[in-house]
Amino acid sequence: MNALEVIGRKRDGHEHSAEEIRFLLTGYLEGRIPDYQLAAWLMAVCTRGMTRAETLALTQAMVDSGETLDLSGIDGLKVDKHSTGGVGDKVTLIAAPLAAACGVKVPKLSGRALAHTGGTLDKLESVPGLTVDLEPARFIRQVRALGLAIAAQSPRMVPADKALYALRDVTATVPAVPLIASSVMSKKLAAGADAIVLDVKFGRGAFMPDPDSATFLASEMVWIGEGAGRRTVALVTAMDNPLGRSVGNALEVRESLEALAGRGDPELLEVSVAVAREMCRLAEVAEDPERALRSGRGREVFEGVLAAQGGRLAEGLPESPVQLPVPAAEGGHVEAIDALEVGLACLELGAGRLRKEDRVDPAAGVVIEAPVGAEVRRGDPLAVVHARTRELAEGARERLRRAWKLSPAPVRRPPHVLARVDRRGVTSAG
Ligand code: URA
Repeated sequence: MNALEVIGRKRDGHEHSAEEIRFLLTGYLEGRIPDYQLAAWLMAVCTRGMTRAETLALTQAMVDSGETLDLSGIDGLKVDKHSTGGVGDKVTLIAAPLAAACGVKVPKLSGRALAHTGGTLDKLESVPGLTVDLEPARFIRQVRALGLAIAAQSPRMVPADKALYALRDVTATVPAVPLIASSVMSKKLAAGADAIVLDVKFGRGAFMPDPDSATFLASEMVWIGEGAGRRTVALVTAMDNPLGRSVGNALEVRESLEALAGRGDPELLEVSVAVAREMCRLAEVAEDPERALRSGRGREVFEGVLAAQGGRLAEGLPESPVQLPVPAAEGGHVEAIDALEVGLACLELGAGRLRKEDRVDPAAGVVIEAPVGAEVRRGDPLAVVHARTRELAEGARERLRRAWKLSPAPVRRPPHVLARVDRRGVTSAG
């Protein structure tokens, strides 16, 4: 077997064997296959696609490239949760404590902000003193004691994903369903849980543009999970508008604490409770997350997790020195808020990273004052920008003005959970 032959087979639309896929991946990781050959193969995958058997073989070869987490020290069914990324997506911070409060064991390995989308680790690190670097023994002890730990993935897990992602990023080969599905699922399989709930987002602020493409990605990921022996369910949820009322690291932690105290935005709670319910179902736990929300038990779990990871909430979350309102240029009903523009505004404010080595500003971000469906008069605040400097705040304000679309007629907020995908197929929600 040689690389030219294997690349040529994908170029011509043939199906690879598992051996061919493993040959390419290990050859690349061990330095025998250069960047330009793997890049040519990635582009061939983008245009020709992959069968499910090929995608599963790629995922398994990626998992085998590094260490996996052994969770056998935790009793019961362990359930992981993953979102494909969005703007204001703080669902993990709400759904995971709710599921844990119901008795589910949730060993959660999370990621950092990617492009305009936020990352759970950056959000958590806005709490003074908190660490996301938990050694496996501490991680497992915490899941046993509290039901939930949220930590960074070790760099020794799925090194193939890191290498492939870096090459995809610079060769315009990121948005291919088999490559996204194998990238996400290899990390989930290596993380060792028995079951996985996926939140697959579509819309302006997500990587998938519409419900159909998100449902296709969800089906591929469910198939990979089930094919690897893990019970897997995906929800397809909207990300046209930012989720909830705040975007930015500390701002989202604050909103999550408020939501867990029963004062949450309806759509944020709709998605979070739906995800927590799927986690309970997969763990075969009969408790209802809605009850854990109403009783305050979910918030207790979240506060316990923050404290166990060194967080000192009593010191307060960081706050920006500049808080600048964005006034409405005209009156009307809010029809849409462009999540991508809001995400990019937050990125420029420092809530995410423009370069790999950037440090995030934990306090920066945007609080939405006029959500979809709200009626505003000219001059009313659409949002408040939280920034390190007035100059940064004014730059973000310009972008945010363009993000709000107003309508003369009243607007109804659309449902956020559109479909559910499991091993039996797709069901429309609602
Ligand atoms: N998130 C991932 O982990 N991988 C991708 O390829 C895209 C989004």
